[in-house]
Amino acid sequence: MTRINRIAAMVSLATLFPLASHAAESKGTVEVVHYWTSGGEAKSVDVLKKIIEKDGFTWQDSAVAGGGGSAAMTVLKTRAVSGNPPSAAQIKAPDIQEWGKLDLLTSIDGVAKANNWDSLLPKAVADIMKYEGHYVAVPVNIHRINWLWLNPSVLQEAGVTQAPATLEELYAAGDKLKAAGFIAIAHGGQAWQDTTIFENLVLSIMGVQGFRKAFIDVDEATLEGPQMADVFIALRKLQSYLDPDGNGQDWNLETAKVINGKAGMQIMGDWAKSEWTAAGKQADVDYQCVPFPGSQGVYSYTIDSLAMFKLATKKDNPGNIAARDALAMVALEPEFQYVFNQNKGSIPVIKGLDMTRFDSCAQASAKDFASAENTDSLAPSMAFNMSTSQAVQGAVFDVVTHFMNDKQADPAKAGKRMLAAIRAAQ
Ligand code: BGC
Repeated sequence: MTRINRIAAMVSLATLFPLASHAAESKGTVEVVHYWTSGGEAKSVDVLKKIIEKDGFTWQDSAVAGGGGSAAMTVLKTRAVSGNPPSAAQIKAPDIQEWGKLDLLTSIDGVAKANNWDSLLPKAVADIMKYEGHYVAVPVNIHRINWLWLNPSVLQEAGVTQAPATLEELYAAGDKLKAAGFIAIAHGGQAWQDTTIFENLVLSIMGVQGFRKAFIDVDEATLEGPQMADVFIALRKLQSYLDPDGNGQDWNLETAKVINGKAGMQIMGDWAKSEWTAAGKQADVDYQCVPFPGSQGVYSYTIDSLAMFKLATKKDNPGNIAARDALAMVALEPEFQYVFNQNKGSIPVIKGLDMTRFDSCAQASAKDFASAENTDSLAPSMAFNMSTSQAVQGAVFDVVTHFMNDKQADPAKAGKRMLAAIRAAQ
């Protein structure tokens, strides 16, 4: 074949198979480090992946298992230090600032301006997505932490006639569940899950003001005071209701125990609902959600966000930048917000969406968020890295876990220990 004929043959092949060659060709790749790996979480993140792929980009999934995200953050640090960051990573607000200071994040102001993020997002949320005034992260949801999840048929079988609204009622329900042979509270003994219970007790016993003094102001008198001792006394008491086989157990496996009727209750953020949803269960029919006893009126929350990284030189090309921008844009589009949050158990982070498209737990969550906002009762979660850096959060984890493992530990001294640990981590 002459050279001319060879070129003609190549051209005609290309025109014969334009779709095939086009489909194989990605417009660019976006690599996302996240820790959404339970059944319900994976289903939720899949929504994002599908939209990105439909737009012609490649989604490179870098999921790191481990509830609460400590393992993912370790991977992220190692990758960033070795000059190989992903395009985006699931990071919580105070840490966005830390990554920003290291000059590792990139501005997505262009996407934010074009899509009006300043008016789409509550100002408080927009502010924490920015580093030095520039958007460097996109939020995807609002998760409430202070929830108690109930299996009503298990409760009924154990003779618990109404959802516990106070700590005393919670203990009473726990006694009945145990006496009837159920696990009272499904719980995995991992530091972050232990600290979820601890944080809820702080809200219940010390209220939102006490919580803020302890974990935002790091006020010595509050951390060492008698109410904090009461929190640890309550933690010891609650411990007797936790799953005896829960040591080291993942949160979703514990949720499964409530779903399967082995356990009556679980204290967990509303990503627990993603497991109920994935199992085809319905709010108010198969399960109930109530605020953690004694913390009614307070709304503790965490916001998942995807921070955008400067790409390593070999990946820094227009296609990959476009893919990263597409991710940022899609994350705040209404259709994504509806489907993602319906699956994830959280509520949308953008204003003005139709909450009748959500179940009763999400509707209650949105209503409680709004009223807590009006009564100044919002509590950015310490256990989920909204009020503290990861270092401070880790210090609290250590103290709580140590207390739970050492049955002889004195509740009156635990607050002092916590203060010292926080100071050392700051
Ligand atoms: C995140 C949730 C996640 C949960 C369990 C929290 O820190 O905000 O999105 O589902 O951890 O891993």
